[in-house]
Amino acid sequence: MSMVDSFEKIPVKIFGSLEEGSRFIGKEIAHLIREKEARGEKTVLGLATGSSPKSLYAELVRLHREERLSFRNVITFNLDEYYPIDNDALQSYNRFMKEQLFDKVDIDPANCHIPNGQWEKEKIKQHCIAYEEMIEKAGGIDLQILGIGNNGHIGFNEPGSSIYSRTRLVPLDNSTRIANSHDFQNISQVPRLAITMGISTILKARRIVLMAWGQIKAPVLQKAVEGNVTEQIPASLLQQHNDCTFVTDEMAASELTRFKSPWLTGETAWTPAVIRKAVVNMALKLGKPILSLTNNDYNDSGLSDLLVEKGDAYEINLQVFYLLRDSITGWPGGKPNAHLPTHPERSEPFPKRVMIFSPHPDDDIISMGGTFMRLHDQGHDVHVAYQTSGNIAVTDEFVTRFLDFAVGFEVLSGIDSKKSSQILEQATSYLKTKKPSDIDTVEIRSIKGLIRRCEAKATCRYVGIPDENIHFMNLPFYETGTIEKKPMGEEDVQLTVDLLRKIKPQQIYCAGDLADPHGTHKVCLDVVFESLRRLKAAGDTWLNDCWLWLYKGAWQEWDISEIEMAIPMSPDQVRKKRFGIFIHQSQKDMVPFQGSDSREFWQRAEDRNANTANLYAQLGFTKYAAMEAFVRWHY
Ligand code: F6R
Repeated sequence: MSMVDSFEKIPVKIFGSLEEGSRFIGKEIAHLIREKEARGEKTVLGLATGSSPKSLYAELVRLHREERLSFRNVITFNLDEYYPIDNDALQSYNRFMKEQLFDKVDIDPANCHIPNGQWEKEKIKQHCIAYEEMIEKAGGIDLQILGIGNNGHIGFNEPGSSIYSRTRLVPLDNSTRIANSHDFQNISQVPRLAITMGISTILKARRIVLMAWGQIKAPVLQKAVEGNVTEQIPASLLQQHNDCTFVTDEMAASELTRFKSPWLTGETAWTPAVIRKAVVNMALKLGKPILSLTNNDYNDSGLSDLLVEKGDAYEINLQVFYLLRDSITGWPGGKPNAHLPTHPERSEPFPKRVMIFSPHPDDDIISMGGTFMRLHDQGHDVHVAYQTSGNIAVTDEFVTRFLDFAVGFEVLSGIDSKKSSQILEQATSYLKTKKPSDIDTVEIRSIKGLIRRCEAKATCRYVGIPDENIHFMNLPFYETGTIEKKPMGEEDVQLTVDLLRKIKPQQIYCAGDLADPHGTHKVCLDVVFESLRRLKAAGDTWLNDCWLWLYKGAWQEWDISEIEMAIPMSPDQVRKKRFGIFIHQSQKDMVPFQGSDSREFWQRAEDRNANTANLYAQLGFTKYAAMEAFVRWHY
């Protein structure tokens, strides 16, 4: 048994990306189907929905189209479905399966089984018994695919579900309703019930593969794999299955002991980054400033190896202390006329042409508003590129308010252009009859986009950025009108390449949500990475003098031990940033697709910036009101 196995009670296969992980599972499924087919047998697959299996289904469709994998001999049973829900509602799992897989391969629809959200309530028990019988009649499940909920659920078996549970109607945990609310206009529309296979149904499968992608799954994955077997974390019950594998990307695996504290699971290469991580985590855990850590603390925290290799605690403490100290600066664009070799940024050139990429029209001010203002105030030529229109996050009431204004304005000014009256009329009557599952028309989307553009412009004006430095990119991948976006496309990259070539920045800021495998931020980041790769390949030499800094665009922050540039903020700067965020009125109070955090954006930003400042203070540095944090990306 290796030291990793002594922590991990379920085998975990970790891949560089979810695409690679999905290819691995796709290969196993293809092999199983072909092998059984050769024996004249049918393959019975248990299938999941949600965001995790999407890339797997895309891979199965590819295998079907390009490698002639046939699903004629495949029978499927899905884990679950909301209740009640129309089969063709946008959020229904019946619809999801058709769109993602069944309609794109040669499976016989009669072989596809999914609990039905339209079953009559009185007959659900019978239907559930029949569902179990059908699985048995098909010979039992050969391979069950699973995702994992943030609360550890598998299927919709929420914490507390019995290991003996079978297919049944269940209430959804509030945390699940919140987590899944991003598929619905708002939380009140998320069904309260669901039909799900039971834990015993799942455990009866001959083989189980659970997928987990992204940072968001890291804490629960660690509990399921390394924690005790408990019904409070239903996925931990999989430790009792004899052929179960977890397939993850690096982000989802990041809380496992082998990554979190690699010195506990084997030989460690004590690079400065690893030392920094080990010492910072130890200091925070013990509640001690770095310079107060003793040899005993190192030994008690499992870091005796580090002492053996690097000597005394005092020396190591100093090394880490200096690294953190040198990450703090009030000069995000570099300090002009100063020779500071340990400063995170170069002093020259000064001033710098700076390009801030903002995935949505408010990420710049929310995630790096303090730095944004400093860069401008310190004389840099700051450009902002708003990558997407952000139109789906504007409520219909908000549009109506603007439509009313536009109508009033027309009357007031006597304008009577036919076209604008027509647009106004169409938009107003569309909104009056709009159903919750309707996708907005192109007009409504452009009005919503316009509202957000005006807000972004107002923020730039508030910071002092001239109009010609504001770039609205409207990347096409975003323009689907639904929460589901297209993948990065050629046009997205070309628009970005052109803009970068035009501005030739010496410093770029990007939302570095590497860990957000499904979201808009990740696509926006990929577009920039791909554009830089192409520019480099094309020999654009100005790139040699351009540094790329990543801010976290969502509300999480960089791990304190990773931060390479921390920009402190005074209470006044915090207030100024707050007012900058307030300008985004369409995003205040309540926004559609709010997700799992009920705090407003300015509150999330302030909590997060104050937290970074507190962590620095706990480690023994000056206590600032707030801090924004960045990591440099070497491309
Ligand atoms: C869906 C299902 C759920 C999901 C889980 C994770 O059929 O059974 O257990 O697998 O909620 O959802 P995502 O993949 O959307 O994070």
